[in-house]
Amino acid sequence: MPETINIKTICVCGAGTMGSGIAQVAAQAGFNTIQFDLNTAMLEKSRQQILASLNKLAEKGKLTEAAKTAALANIHFTASVEACIADVIIEAIVEDEAAKTTLFKKLAAINSPATIFATNTSSISVSTLATATAIDAQFAGMHFFNPAQLMKLVEVVYTSSTAPAVTDTLVALAKQMGKVPVVCKDAPGFIVNRVARHYYLEAMLLVEKGLADIETIDTIMEATGFKMGPFKLMDLIGMDVNYAVSNIVWNALDKPERLQPSALQKEKVEKGELGKKSGKGFYHY
Ligand SMILES: NC(=O)c1ccc[n+]([C@@H]2O[C@H](COP(=O)([O-])OP(=O)(O)OC[C@H]3O[C@@H](n4cnc5c(N)ncnc54)[C@H](O)[C@@H]3O)[C@@H](O)[C@H]2O)c1
Repeated sequence: MPETINIKTICVCGAGTMGSGIAQVAAQAGFNTIQFDLNTAMLEKSRQQILASLNKLAEKGKLTEAAKTAALANIHFTASVEACIADVIIEAIVEDEAAKTTLFKKLAAINSPATIFATNTSSISVSTLATATAIDAQFAGMHFFNPAQLMKLVEVVYTSSTAPAVTDTLVALAKQMGKVPVVCKDAPGFIVNRVARHYYLEAMLLVEKGLADIETIDTIMEATGFKMGPFKLMDLIGMDVNYAVSNIVWNALDKPERLQPSALQKEKVEKGELGKKSGKGFYHY
């Protein structure tokens, strides 16, 4: 495993919930950070969120003013894919295989053969993306958790073609970002999302069957020691993202009954009730 890593520039693609948090973490760890999104409004929202988060850390005494200024100076926001030249690219765009493949192909064409390409996908097969983009050995998953600026765990996901040096470098990089990396083999839902499916699905089944209401379930689960009840957590994650993950994992495992996506959640997605990011999900914001 490399003790020191020769990484100076990190490009984070996607400035949404996850991309914004990952860019903040990279910038705070001292990397030259490029934050790319096609949507300029999302770039501006990300800039504001990172500023607010750093201000909060500084107010609490967890970050010096100098460190805050340095972190802000490390981030460069861009809507131009041509600017995405880096040692490591972390992709956190929409959970859509075709969109991710198209972007990775563009990025591979303009970056060096030594560049490492990592996807933050929650549920799309990393192996499928590696093959579709023909990046193979330089391709892996780097799965952060929400909110990325706070959650310590990172799943580093390798495929049968990922170069071991790439996995090692991503593990070392995650540590340098202050995270706790866990290496896992590519499989539907990796580890955390596979286990956590039942947390969401069983909770929604209880509501659908009229056996308990949302608030009661969240209160009980929090009282037993979970940091967030399943409904609050789904609102934080984003209903569309969580529903897409459920569908992808279910399909990838040949549709087992125990993992069937929820009709209640489908309805929420169709109504645009996506959770915190849209102002309404299971709760109002
Ligand atoms: N939300 C979570 O809790 C969570 C946790 C871990 C991993 N993930 C994964 O992270 C990824 C992003 O999820 P999110 O919740 O941040 O989504 P989001 O909807 O908040 O943000 C997605 C961003 O990608 C941008 N985008 C879409 N297509 C693009 C393109 N072609 N080029 C550049 N930018 C593009 C959008 O403008 C948007 O800003 C997904 O793969 C998701 O599965 C999400």
